Amino acid sequence: MIETRIRRKSLLEKITTPQAAAALIKDGMIIGMSGFTRAGDAKAVPVAMVERARTDPFQITLITGASLGHDIDRMLTEAKILARRMPFQVDTTLRAAINRGEVMFIDQHLSETVEHLRSHQLGPIDYAIIEATAITEDGGIVPSTSIGNSASFAILAKRVIIELNLSQSLELEGLHDIYIPTRRPSREPIPVVACDSRVGFPYVSIDPDKIAAIVITEKKDSFSNVEAPDDDTEAIAGHLIRFLENEVAKGRLDLSLQPLQAGIGTIANSVLSALAKGPFHHLTMYSEVLQDSTFDLFDAGKLSFASGSSITLSAECAERVFGSFHTYKDRLLLRPQEISNHPEVIRRLGVIGINTALEVDIYGNINSTHVSGTHMMNGTGGSGDFARNAYLSIFVTKSLAKAGKISSVVPMVSHVDHTEHDVDIIVTENGLADLRELAPRERAPLIIAQCAHPSYRDLLSDYVARATARGGHTPHLLEEALSWHIRKEATGTMLP
Ligand code: COA
Repeated sequence: MIETRIRRKSLLEKITTPQAAAALIKDGMIIGMSGFTRAGDAKAVPVAMVERARTDPFQITLITGASLGHDIDRMLTEAKILARRMPFQVDTTLRAAINRGEVMFIDQHLSETVEHLRSHQLGPIDYAIIEATAITEDGGIVPSTSIGNSASFAILAKRVIIELNLSQSLELEGLHDIYIPTRRPSREPIPVVACDSRVGFPYVSIDPDKIAAIVITEKKDSFSNVEAPDDDTEAIAGHLIRFLENEVAKGRLDLSLQPLQAGIGTIANSVLSALAKGPFHHLTMYSEVLQDSTFDLFDAGKLSFASGSSITLSAECAERVFGSFHTYKDRLLLRPQEISNHPEVIRRLGVIGINTALEVDIYGNINSTHVSGTHMMNGTGGSGDFARNAYLSIFVTKSLAKAGKISSVVPMVSHVDHTEHDVDIIVTENGLADLRELAPRERAPLIIAQCAHPSYRDLLSDYVARATARGGHTPHLLEEALSWHIRKEATGTMLP
């Protein structure tokens, strides 16, 4: 069994225990670990690190692709191993430690991390800990259900620890397309010209002598925890489908639309799944995480090809997909996240980006990350990579949060992840605001009428009227602009 997966015989002697591999990690090291939206994460060595820290405390900087599964961020946080963490996370315990200032979190565009490593603005990485499905005769590492930053971590790290996961299907081999951009400033164009462009290698090439240890695991990926669509997400999807149908009617798009990207979370997943109900066909995806919605679209016969950086599925969908992976494999491709999220490629392909906001303001600025402007939720992830460069940059959100105590449409966002210049369309369950070619004074009434919840519309209109009376290209009452957030802190609700 092991020999069919470790095909370079000399590497068999590197097999060791998770504890021995964890002992290689020293205090102060920078560690690059595989894992993107819970898929393909290292599962054994981090747990052994947590065990070790009980008697031998140490701290590291941990860089991943994106979020991890199996509560690994929680365990590492509780063991006080994390000094610094980047570029994304979704863990409640880690989030609290970040917001207490105990873990320094660097919230970064997902396409940028390895550029910083490659140009020595970050790093060097002491150890890369990478989950693999197999190691080829040449020592090439075949990733598993995600690539994320793993390829560049392995290439740029001083040493590499492999977690060979026997539960990952050998059918994954051949799914990956590892392309590493050349150095700047003389970089060649990235030759991805369509979602299905295959431009690299199916494994990560490194010097096998860099492999310090191989740990055998059998633990499956964590399942995704996105929730089922509800009335609000159905309504958001309905507005978006009608908008896209109208774009087709106007001759701006055809029924295959343009490559789709959908962000993480329940809302984006539900909206994408609902596209199956529209008249669209031969859809394609150029996205980062491929969630249940991707496979719903495949099964509905609507999707022709999906390119991503990871596959993260619910238990039910994982059984369906990995139970007959061969039926999907030739319509799928996983890339390093700097390629799945590359501004050059997103702009070239004309991607339609659908991402989720925590709050939007009356002029179209978006806060995706900071609750009340101060407290980190998850991170900006890849939303900025797509929003800035998309053919259509769409943001979706429910108009209310926390049982109506919070309006997701506010006078001024309390933190800005995406400026009004990067936002074309905002959709809530109430309606859709098409902001293209509109000046701020035109945007505000449209966003209020179309997107705000009725219980906050008069308050917003009153704010705009009084601000506009004072003048300005983007009228505001600065003394009042964040008063809704202040009121929420003081009274528990944004309503007066
Ligand atoms: N203020 C405070 N909390 C808010 C809020 C607001 N304006 N809007 C939403 N929330 C809360 C919800 O109440 C919910 O809280 P809960 O987990 O305690 O129930 C939580 O945020 C998630 O909101 P939900 O409505 O369930 O949406 P979601 O699961 O789709 O997640 C984001 C929404 C914004 C948190 C998520 O999409 C995200 O992290 N986005 C940024 C990263 C990104 O876009 N990546 C895309 C490419 S990787």
